[in-house]
Amino acid sequence: MSKLIIEGCPRLSGSVSANGAKNSVLPILAATLINAGENVIHNCPDLRDVDSAVNILRHLGCKVRREGKTIIVNSSNITRYDIPDNLMREMRSSVIFLGPVLARCGKSSMSFPGGCELGPRPIDLHIDAVKKLGVNVTESGGILECTAGKMTGKDIILPFPSVGATENIILLATACHGRTRIRNAAQEPEIDDLIAFVNKAGGMAARRGSEIEIIGTQTREHTEHTIMPDRIETATYLCMGAAVGGDVEVRNTYPQYVETITEALTQAGAEISVRKDIIRIKRDKPLGSIKPVRTMPYPGFPTDAQAPLMAAMLKARGSSIFLETIFENRYRHVSELMRMGADIKVAGRVAVVEGVTRLFGTKVRATDLRGGAAMCIAAMTAMGKTEIDDIHHIDRGYEKIENVINALGGRALRE
Ligand code: UD1
Repeated sequence: MSKLIIEGCPRLSGSVSANGAKNSVLPILAATLINAGENVIHNCPDLRDVDSAVNILRHLGCKVRREGKTIIVNSSNITRYDIPDNLMREMRSSVIFLGPVLARCGKSSMSFPGGCELGPRPIDLHIDAVKKLGVNVTESGGILECTAGKMTGKDIILPFPSVGATENIILLATACHGRTRIRNAAQEPEIDDLIAFVNKAGGMAARRGSEIEIIGTQTREHTEHTIMPDRIETATYLCMGAAVGGDVEVRNTYPQYVETITEALTQAGAEISVRKDIIRIKRDKPLGSIKPVRTMPYPGFPTDAQAPLMAAMLKARGSSIFLETIFENRYRHVSELMRMGADIKVAGRVAVVEGVTRLFGTKVRATDLRGGAAMCIAAMTAMGKTEIDDIHHIDRGYEKIENVINALGGRALRE
């Protein structure tokens, strides 16, 4: 089992590039199933979750090859509609294959994605929606069996703007007769990236605010798409710059999608400047406190950036308050941060961070993907060496994070 050894450093300086967005490439790889031809997807990050999605596509019969950052999926011949338990478990978000497998095969058989590190992840919104679109769903022994009847577009009102449910509905709707309309749909930028892909793949989908309309698709022989930059990866590197101090630049990103994070870091006293697709963060004086951070669906503050921002605020003057409204159990990084000397109190969905003057390197573990990123940030500001275990979580969403830390002048080693 590998681990990361990170040494505290006094100042960061350097420029790094954001990769393609994990939360965009995963649904788009699943979406290649709806286009029975060659799908060329550029700017794919090299991540464990992407490998898992590729394994599922191959299992279903797709021919997949990677050429650097480009993944080419030929989905002309699909030979199966089942996804075995071991492949479902490899990736938490494997449920995004439900809609596209059903759209393509009219049937699907897959196990429940199961529990995960962020608490139970129900899929009731996905199931209710596919039923409404004309799919018969049964469950036995943890296996979800779905058979499509005559699928017809409908109006679907989501009780909560679930990202995954919105994606599944969009993809299933491409195989429905007539028009599907999703109300209270998720508005995350990755949803727009998926819509852009669907339109290139011969479908017709459009979003107006919280409403998305989809009309069936016609297969194209060749589709090409470039994955948008990862806004959470961008936020993580900005939080590194804010936490340690210095002068850090993140290139190839979309600054407009991380405004809630740059706003919080500006409140804390960092100097942010934006030039086209580059964000630069400078911080020389100690950080101050920020307004309470409440995680919300987009365009609110992203739950995925909560842990990295919390890590950046551990040594800020005064107190910072976090309210997590999206996931239960998303404070698992807190006990690990406290092992390093952080002062954090959690009561239900609220966490209060009191700034401390010092953090100390010790042995900790990555409790989940973004919690792992938070441990890296804290380690970069701590005295001495921090040993981070269970870094497979970090590898799910960051391409060799140690290379980024070192490129910015930090000290990180994978053992
Ligand atoms: C996606 C992102 C994840 C991000 C999350 C919220 C991907 C691959 N993952 O996850 O990084 O943290 O959005 O921005 O894009 N819920 C239900 N029933 C359902 C579906 C969801 O109760 O059927 C609940 C979940 O338990 C959770 C909340 O709704 O509490 C948000 O879930 P959702 O928006 O679906 O997140 P994901 O698509 O799983």
